[in-house]
Amino acid sequence: MEKILFVASESVPFIKTGGLADVVGSLPKYFDKEKYDVRVMLPKYMCMKDEWKEKLTYCTHFYMDLNWRTQYVGILELEYDGITFYFIDNEYYFNGFAPYGDMYSDIEKFAFFSKAVLSALPLIDFRPDILHCHDWQSGLVPVYLDNFRYGNEFYRGIKTIMTIHNLKFQGTWDTKRVMDITGLPRYYFAPDKLEAYKDANYLKGGIVYADRITTVSSSYAEEIKTPFYGEKLDGLMNARANSLSGIVNGIDYEDYDPADDPHIEKNYTVDNFRKEKVKNKTALQKELGLEADHRVMMIGVVSRLTDQKGFDLISYVMDELCQDAVQLVVLGTGEEQYENMFRHYAWKYSDKVSANIFYSEPMSHKVYASCDAFLMPSLFEPCGLSQLMSLRYGTVPIVRETGGLKDTVEPYNEFEKTGTGFSFMNYNAHEMLGTVRYAERIYYDKKRDWNKIVERGMQKDFSWKNSAKQYEELYESILC
Ligand code: ADP
Ligand code: GLC
Repeated sequence: MEKILFVASESVPFIKTGGLADVVGSLPKYFDKEKYDVRVMLPKYMCMKDEWKEKLTYCTHFYMDLNWRTQYVGILELEYDGITFYFIDNEYYFNGFAPYGDMYSDIEKFAFFSKAVLSALPLIDFRPDILHCHDWQSGLVPVYLDNFRYGNEFYRGIKTIMTIHNLKFQGTWDTKRVMDITGLPRYYFAPDKLEAYKDANYLKGGIVYADRITTVSSSYAEEIKTPFYGEKLDGLMNARANSLSGIVNGIDYEDYDPADDPHIEKNYTVDNFRKEKVKNKTALQKELGLEADHRVMMIGVVSRLTDQKGFDLISYVMDELCQDAVQLVVLGTGEEQYENMFRHYAWKYSDKVSANIFYSEPMSHKVYASCDAFLMPSLFEPCGLSQLMSLRYGTVPIVRETGGLKDTVEPYNEFEKTGTGFSFMNYNAHEMLGTVRYAERIYYDKKRDWNKIVERGMQKDFSWKNSAKQYEELYESILC
């Protein structure tokens, strides 16, 4: 039995700010249980819902040095859906109303977390063969492991994988302060190790020291080797190209299932969506105060409202788009400029635009189920899960051809009658608008073809089945 420990800063159902949590919480369930014991280690955030905190059981605690500081490390445990989750407890670091705060504190918080994860291993009766680290918050794990290996037999032979969910976030800070926080020897703070452009960079450390690096789609694995997408680490990505691969994300087909989703008005399947799906649209129109018209094309957006997601394009052509026979339902939180932009248009076109500036899992399911199309014109997109959720719910994605969007949405070809969505190439607002309008024409004038696009999308399999196999192969290749 191979033992794998996921190390991450968020996971459903405990704490989520984005797709990382979906991946960490669902992927472990899809490994071959005869061959792999996959567990997960997370911080125990104060902001986790009480319903979860109450269920955790205490394992043990100890005190750990973080350079000159001595800190409490508690370990708690919970088995959920057949997977063991460990939680690292420290009320000083993991307080606050959200998992992440300002970078200054987060840098110390996740140095603590990474060292605590390694220090906890001898006490939990689970010595992993592989530590599978996710994003910059666990980037120091492979670095500390390198350091721990000297003089400690327990850590020798443990392998590491660094999975990049988003290269934009690297966890960088002034080298002197990071030296002071981590207590790592000066040796690690060099340009071929932790240092990047004079600062200390956690993700870079993880990438340099991990045995293998993965990211969440093949296209993004290629893109990050170029200056445009490489976030100044494209040189490093090229240097480690032999150890870098892309494995596309899946989604949890049980949590996201239009046939059996408790959050939506009317359940439906690929066989009856033509009649049943629209009932979700009319219910949502009523709930959100949009004009009640089952024929109008409803376009959805469920997203963190950041520049990554292409909202500058939407903002640029919003007035033009609102002249069309469409409704736009937005669910998201994030940068104030985008929140206010959508609030403004919801005020200006109140029967057409609905701005829901909050976070709600049930509402997200309603949007995926109710809309006809889903707009995701990202500037860059390592994988993207929202378009996969849309496909699962028969909601046709309209995307920019980048990263995982390119790998998962096949553009409609009206001559060959193929494709599951619509896409455009350049980061250009009118190119996007042109594509949305093309989709409108198919929706209104060629309903039969539109429904075939929906059907093909719903028939695609983006469950974790295939991707979990690829991770298994990767694990095997490291361990043999
Ligand atoms: P990213 O991880 O970059 O934010 P993904 O598409 O991979 O993008 O994943 C986003 C996840 O977050 C999806 O599960 C999506 O449904 C969810 N999500 C984003 N914003 C909200 C919101 N306001 N309310 C509920 N779920 C949201
Ligand atoms: C990141 C990316 C997103 C990806 C998610 C899960 O947040 O922005 O594209 O789907 O991680 O891997």
